[in-house]
Amino acid sequence: MPPVTLMIVGAGDRGSMYAGYARRFPEAARVIAVAEPREARRSRMAARHGIAPQNVFSDWRDAAARARLADAVVITTQDAMHADPAVAFAGLGYHILLEKPMATTEADCRRVTGAVTEAGVIFALGHVLRYTLYTRRLKQMIDSGAIGEVVSIQHLEPVGYWHQAHSFVRGNWRNTRQSSFMLLAKSCHDLDWIRHIMGAACLRVSSFGSLRHFRPEFAPAGSAERCLDCSVEKACPYSAIKIYLGRVRAGHRGWPVSVLTDDTTEEGVTKALREGPYGRCVYRCDNDAVDNQVVIMEFEGGRTATFTMTAFNPGSDRKTRIFGTRGQLEGDGNTIWHSDFLTDKTEAIDANAGSDGTIRSGHGGGDYQLARSFLEAVRDEDPAKILSGPMESLESHLMVFAAERSRLEGRIVEVSV
Ligand SMILES: NC(=O)c1ccc[n+]([C@@H]2O[C@H](COP(=O)([O-])OP(=O)(O)OC[C@H]3O[C@@H](n4cnc5c(N)ncnc54)[C@H](O)[C@@H]3O)[C@@H](O)[C@H]2O)c1
Repeated sequence: MPPVTLMIVGAGDRGSMYAGYARRFPEAARVIAVAEPREARRSRMAARHGIAPQNVFSDWRDAAARARLADAVVITTQDAMHADPAVAFAGLGYHILLEKPMATTEADCRRVTGAVTEAGVIFALGHVLRYTLYTRRLKQMIDSGAIGEVVSIQHLEPVGYWHQAHSFVRGNWRNTRQSSFMLLAKSCHDLDWIRHIMGAACLRVSSFGSLRHFRPEFAPAGSAERCLDCSVEKACPYSAIKIYLGRVRAGHRGWPVSVLTDDTTEEGVTKALREGPYGRCVYRCDNDAVDNQVVIMEFEGGRTATFTMTAFNPGSDRKTRIFGTRGQLEGDGNTIWHSDFLTDKTEAIDANAGSDGTIRSGHGGGDYQLARSFLEAVRDEDPAKILSGPMESLESHLMVFAAERSRLEGRIVEVSV
């Protein structure tokens, strides 16, 4: 079988990651077109993949003005720029791998699912957590009845203090008007994951949350607009010098440093801290993304789940407890502890045992596992290989929109698909 041909729309961080899959597994996929406005990113991707000049575009609209060039398109533009290209490329008959969130409004999510369903193309959303070996193992155990019926779930997303500062205070997802709200930008993964594990529809949600800490009134005395000018920077855990230059000095040049600048030398990063958004004091940014939020969910059959997202932790994999009628599962992204009520024994299971190496990709291996499932689905024309298809992804997005409405309006909100 020839490799699946791909067009990358948005050659930023995620686009480069998916293109990287094609470089690592050339028998599975080939990148033959790119659309990207940033010249350096565009020419780097074109050169790396030997893309013909006529297939190199500076805007996805130029690519969409042409007849279909590739089997599939990978859409990795920013959140607010997902729906239009998804609808346009579905209309041209491209199979689509679309990064999460599907879109930033409920109406646009419905527009995307309508377009891909009508076009009959294969569609996968970037809900990478569904694809990890860990999740597959958990889901397999639940489906095989290891803990009886799942009655409730307790799920924690420990975002991490520096990741919060990077993405949701200084960075791309700091401001809800410019990108999207926290629950959609980050935790849409988690509500989707809870829905997947529960295996039932969510009926009602309730949510509370706030931007508690990263506000001007918490700026320490003596602090400045930028960390490079700050007299108390050394006492601040959120110091950009610590977070970025600390990593560069330790020899780390990948994410998150690579987001600041293409020049990841100490000089290049210092310049970015001096001039760009990532050098700003975390107490003096134009941010409104929440730093803590909880969601309570009621599922079909009176089952329940709780979700906590918080910035205030060192940052680690998600932690979950799944409570069943015959046992409990507890997991940290790597190990699953299975307690059986009949034997009163607890067994620890290494969920990543037997990995073929794709586990080393991001999100606990979910990035490459999703890419693989999508490419196999396209190759075999088999949407069943996709764990995050249009309708279930729509449903979990509707949970997210309902939860945010609940937080803002202070009431329980029904989820209606
Ligand atoms: N699945 C996950 O776990 C996960 C993780 C991180 C990010 N994401 C999502 O992936 C998406 C991309 O995030 P990122 O970190 O790669 O962002 P990024 O900013 O690095 O990349 C987006 C790219 O789109 C390009 N772009 C802008 N306008 C364009 C246009 N008209 N045509 C073509 N390209 C255009 C930008 O220049 C940029 O290079 C976001 O929606 C984000 O929420 C998903």
